[in-house]
Amino acid sequence: MSGSKEQDSVQRHTTTAHRGKGPIPGLAVVIMAAGLGKRMQSKHAKVLHPIAGRAMVLYSVELGLRVAGDRVAVVVGHQADRVGQVIKESTAGHNGQTPILIVEQRELLGTGHAVLQTRPLFTGSGRAMPGQFLILNGDTPLLQEATIRQLLVVHQAEQAAVTIMTAQLDDASGYGRVVREPSSGNRVSRIVEDGDADANEKLICEINVGTYVVDGSFLFSALEQLQPTNAQGEYYLTDIVQAAVQQGRPVAAVLLDDPNEGLGVNTRRQLAEAELVVRRQLRDRWMDAGVRLIDPPSTWIDAGVTIGKDTVLYPNVMLEGRTTIGEDCIVRSGARITDCVVGNGVEILDHCILRESHIEDGSTLGPFTHLRPHVTVRKGAKIGNFVEAKKTDLGEGSKANHLSYIGDAKIGKGVNIGAGTITCNYDGVRKAETVIGDGVFIGSDTQLIAPVTVGRGSVIAAGTTVTENVPDDSLVISRLPQVTRAGWAAKRRALIESTPEVQTKRSVKTTQTKAYRKKPGKKPR
Ligand code: UD1
Ligand code: CA
Repeated sequence: MSGSKEQDSVQRHTTTAHRGKGPIPGLAVVIMAAGLGKRMQSKHAKVLHPIAGRAMVLYSVELGLRVAGDRVAVVVGHQADRVGQVIKESTAGHNGQTPILIVEQRELLGTGHAVLQTRPLFTGSGRAMPGQFLILNGDTPLLQEATIRQLLVVHQAEQAAVTIMTAQLDDASGYGRVVREPSSGNRVSRIVEDGDADANEKLICEINVGTYVVDGSFLFSALEQLQPTNAQGEYYLTDIVQAAVQQGRPVAAVLLDDPNEGLGVNTRRQLAEAELVVRRQLRDRWMDAGVRLIDPPSTWIDAGVTIGKDTVLYPNVMLEGRTTIGEDCIVRSGARITDCVVGNGVEILDHCILRESHIEDGSTLGPFTHLRPHVTVRKGAKIGNFVEAKKTDLGEGSKANHLSYIGDAKIGKGVNIGAGTITCNYDGVRKAETVIGDGVFIGSDTQLIAPVTVGRGSVIAAGTTVTENVPDDSLVISRLPQVTRAGWAAKRRALIESTPEVQTKRSVKTTQTKAYRKKPGKKPR
């Protein structure tokens, strides 16, 4: 979306107007998220496509929670179970219950029909009908809370039955157009959908964003009157605008200052546009909060991530999912950190891949460390290059600096894991655990055949295969005795020299060298 023209009769939205915080009394929110999203060309419901790692519908849900508290209803339909599950998981409180009301639209008969499905939620016995409904499309993830609050302010000031949000676009194709009556002060008279618009109406650049405030006493009676007499044979929510006008009820409109905020995601291209905007907002937010991004455009921060002050992110860092990074950390280029908790003062060197792990204060990882789920790296511990770890607890100050595999292991404090150490945790059928006590020294190229325990303070000599439990403070060495034969190699060389094959090769080489000598300057090829 781009471009914005002045329009005198339109109430202009001011982004600076915040007008309070917290849920607004008497307001309920309805989010329409049942549609299939045909234009996405996907097997997944459109509203589940992630933007900055968070399902698109959750942007509307969070907005709803902020302005209406526990009076938020979501209409699901296509892949209803999955959509409902994603909403429940992301909004569940400590008791595991979601405050979101979820209702299914069994037949997808249009946006008007979708909103009608929420009536039983709001008109049940003993419930007071909300004074106003804020209705949101589930595919407009860029809307800002301040804009919504402004829309509500205008709705109240104009005592409108319906207030719509609009935007001026250079290219309005695909959107519903806002039709105004020049004869009655340019008031909004109706919304015409793209597929129903005639040639003149298609020229209109003011579009319906799909965000509405509707009076509680008007909404459901108007929805009941809808007729599917249009190109798509659907019950259009947008037709309530014309219904209000016909009943002589005021309709208001708020024009977005920044038309990008009204972006409706129908296609993969629009999804990418939304991603770009959200990613930029997230980066700005963390820079404003004191995080150093050396190259903001190449830094990927998902919506569920938190980062502490004075942490430095180098170019091409990806922080994904619900990752939390503490203060004063350094994350070098090429690191991808997913669903991890990272403490303060942690240094993550280049090209680490870290998943579902816990990294405590002052530890160092990388370069090229791979943490698979459920690793805890305790305070001041170090994991170095080409070390893979999984389901392991590496104790305070312990080190595994080079080329190791550590899986299903409990490792105490101050342990040194030498280069090339392998915990042999899998016998082809079962996984088994390796336990290493405090202060153990494991020499390079050691294999620990699990289940096995190495008692505290023990030393495992380099090249050992540990198959039995080791008591505290022991030395373990399992090597074949070394055999040294003095002069053996020299004898072998002499023997080789005397074989006929080597003799022949030698003579051929000499002849060739002579041939080259005849033509000076020519080099052997
Ligand atoms: C809608 C508006 C259009 C507006 C545009 C803004 C209507 C009739 N048209 O068109 O004026 O310019 O949004 O982006 O409302 N949905 C349901 N149940 C249904 C159909 C849709 O829940 O039966 C949901 C969808 O999941 C989606 C939202 O409603 O989140 C909008 O539906 P969509 O098909 O994207 O409408 P548009 O054609 O974009
Ligand atoms: Ca849409």
